[in-house]
Amino acid sequence: MIKSPLNYTGNKSRLLDQLFPHFPQKINKFVDMCCGGASVGLNVNAKYIICFDNNKKVIELLKTLRFLSEKLIIDKMEGFINTFKLSDTFNNGYDMYRKYIQGNNGLKQFNAEGYAKLRSFYNDDSFNTHRDSAVCLFTLLVFCFNNDLRFNSAGKFNMPVGKTDFNESIRKKLTSFKYGLKNKNIKFVQSDFRVIKELDLRKDDFVYIDPPYLITNAVYNWSGSKWDEVKETELLSVLLYLNEKGIRFALSNVLRKGANVNKILLSWIKKNKFDINYISYHYRSSSYNKKDRATPEEEVLITNYSV
Ligand SMILES: C[S@@+](CC[C@H](N)C(=O)[O-])C[C@H]1O[C@@H](n2cnc3c(N)ncnc32)[C@H](O)[C@@H]1O
Repeated sequence: MIKSPLNYTGNKSRLLDQLFPHFPQKINKFVDMCCGGASVGLNVNAKYIICFDNNKKVIELLKTLRFLSEKLIIDKMEGFINTFKLSDTFNNGYDMYRKYIQGNNGLKQFNAEGYAKLRSFYNDDSFNTHRDSAVCLFTLLVFCFNNDLRFNSAGKFNMPVGKTDFNESIRKKLTSFKYGLKNKNIKFVQSDFRVIKELDLRKDDFVYIDPPYLITNAVYNWSGSKWDEVKETELLSVLLYLNEKGIRFALSNVLRKGANVNKILLSWIKKNKFDINYISYHYRSSSYNKKDRATPEEEVLITNYSV
């Protein structure tokens, strides 16, 4: 499995073995719509893969991590780490940071000051190239709380410092990403989901969509503007368009969370007689906030075909 270096909240990496058996066996062009960290697009077996997300920064990050050599990415990141005096447990070991660790806050205290400076440096946006800016953002992502990407209304990155650093696990994900992409015909494109209608799709193409979920709450529910009933309804009408053209699609979503039901989605599924495939996973160990994690949810994959 190719691991996405973007440790995306709600990423599908741990669900791939449940999702893939529902996908068509032979796929010409695979569209990973609302791709986030692209964990699905990176691992699917298809002739061509296009990953779309409307978040410009996410796409820029994926493109940069793909374009630059692994060595150059690491050199640039270690440059930021040294300049801003951040922890480097990979090269220095953990022991030299132990005295700064309080409770279960990991490296938070050690990195607080350097992280705040690096974030200001990034937000000042005085980079020579957009690739340098993207590597700086990746460095922030590695050091920030939950590894979440969040910008304020003025477009400034505003995640607080987290507990971890550029450790072995994240380095391994970067290696896996670089290695895995070598032989893949994959593209990353910034676009809104409405682009689906403009794509030249054939019957052996397949569209997978993993939008923000109406009844859950993640950072990307505010990607550009809030994911609301209007967007949900528009997305569902785009999927009906695909259905009319005879193009197969699979939509990931959450139908119920505690007492909350996505009624728009449920009535759309029933009206169009689409298949509901249940997925068993509740994000208990993921980075959703505690309240969200504790509430059981019904995760589903909706398909306009039967397997
Ligand atoms: C559930 S996440 C996708 C996670 C992804 N499947 C993964 O494995 O990492 C939803 C994504 O939808 C994107 N998004 C939100 N609104 C969108 C829109 N209008 N058009 C396209 N993408 C959108 C967000 O930026 C976010 O990356």
